[in-house]
Amino acid sequence: MTAPRTVMITGGAGYIGSHTAKVLRRAGYRTVIFDNLSAGHREACLGAPFIEGDIRDTASVRRALRDSGATAVVHFAAWLVVPDSITDPAGYYRNNVLGSLATLEAMAAEGCQHVVFSSTCAVYGEPVSVPLEEDHPTAPISPYGQTKLAVEQALPHFERAYGLRSIRLRYFNAAGADPEGELGEDHTPEIHAIPRAFDAASGGSPFEIFGEDYPTPDGTCLRDYIHVMDLADAHLRALQRLEQGGASATYNVGTERPSSVRDVLAAVERVTGRTVSRRSSPRRPGDPATLYASAARIRAELGWVASRPALETIVADAWRWHSTHPRGFAGTARTEPA
Ligand SMILES: NC(=O)c1ccc[n+]([C@@H]2O[C@H](COP(=O)([O-])OP(=O)(O)OC[C@H]3O[C@@H](n4cnc5c(N)ncnc54)[C@H](O)[C@@H]3O)[C@@H](O)[C@H]2O)c1
Repeated sequence: MTAPRTVMITGGAGYIGSHTAKVLRRAGYRTVIFDNLSAGHREACLGAPFIEGDIRDTASVRRALRDSGATAVVHFAAWLVVPDSITDPAGYYRNNVLGSLATLEAMAAEGCQHVVFSSTCAVYGEPVSVPLEEDHPTAPISPYGQTKLAVEQALPHFERAYGLRSIRLRYFNAAGADPEGELGEDHTPEIHAIPRAFDAASGGSPFEIFGEDYPTPDGTCLRDYIHVMDLADAHLRALQRLEQGGASATYNVGTERPSSVRDVLAAVERVTGRTVSRRSSPRRPGDPATLYASAARIRAELGWVASRPALETIVADAWRWHSTHPRGFAGTARTEPA
C-alpha cells in the first residue's frame, strides 16, 4: 500500500479552504493546513494537522513544507474584501502578491512542484461578452482583482525557471456549505449575499440591494453562485491532473447560470420561511451588471461538472449551517489533531 500524499493548504482554516481540505482528505490525501488565522478559524480544520504561520514568511513556509513532506500546495490564503483593497492597496499587494510570491519561492526551494491557485472572476473586470470564457480579456477593476491577476501572471515564470506547474481556478461567487453540516461560511464582516440575506431574515440589518436599474430582467445584478463543494471538487481534479503530469492551465469554475439579487432573496425566503427585510441603495462603482461563467473548458479537460447547481440547494445547504451555528465557529467544539 502506498502512503497517502500530503497536500499543504494555505488558508485552509478559511471558508473554501476548509471545505476543500475535507474533500481532499475524503479522497485519501493527508492535509496540512497553514493559516495565520487573520480570517480563518481553528475549528474549521476539523482536527487536521494545523500550522499557524504567515505566507509572507518564506522561511516558515519552507519549514512547513519540509516538516510535512507536502508534494503539492493548494493556495487559498489571501484577503478578499474588494472595498478594503481600495482603501488599503498596500496591505492587499503585500498579503496577496508578496505572500504568494514568498509561498512560490518556498515551494521552488523545497522542490514542491504542484500548485492549485485560487483566482477569481474579478480578473476579467467589466465583461465585454458573457458567458465569460477564460480567453476573455483581463482588466480587473479593483486592487483585489489586480493582486490575483499579478499572481496568475507570475506563475508561468515560476514554471519556466523552477519547473513549478500550476492550475489557476477562477471562481465565481462561492456559496453554500458542507451538506453534512460540519463546515460553513463565517466571515467578519460578512460580505457575501446569501449569509447577509440570512442575517436580514433573522432580524439583522436590512439587506442592501445595490442598484435596481441595471439592464437585467429584474434590474438587479446577475451573478453565478457556485456551491463550495463543487469548488472543492474542482481543486481535487486540478490536483490529480497535475500529479498525472497534466499541463498548467486556467479554468473558470461556475455553474453557467446567472441569478439576480432578487432571485437570491426569493430563494432565501423560500428556504427559511422568513421575510428578508431589504432596502434599496445606489449602484456600487465597479459592479458589472452581469457576470457568469462558461465552464466548458474545465468540463472538457477535467471532467468537472457542478453537481449542486440549483440556487435552492446552495441556499438550503448554507441555511442548514447558518441556522445551527448562529455565532459561526464560535461555540463549535475544537477538535485537536490526533
Ligand atoms: N469567497 C469567494 O466567493 C471567492 C471568490 C473568488 C475567489 N476567492 C478566493 O478564494 C480564496 C479563499 O476565499 P475564502 O472565501 O475561503 O476566504 P477566507 O477569508 O474564508 O479564507 C482565507 C484564509 O486565508 C488566511 N490568510 C489570509 N492571509 C494569510 C496570510 N498572510 N498567511 C496565512 N494565512 C492567511 C485567512 O486566515 C483565511 O483563513 C481567496 O484566495 C479568495 O481570493 C474567493
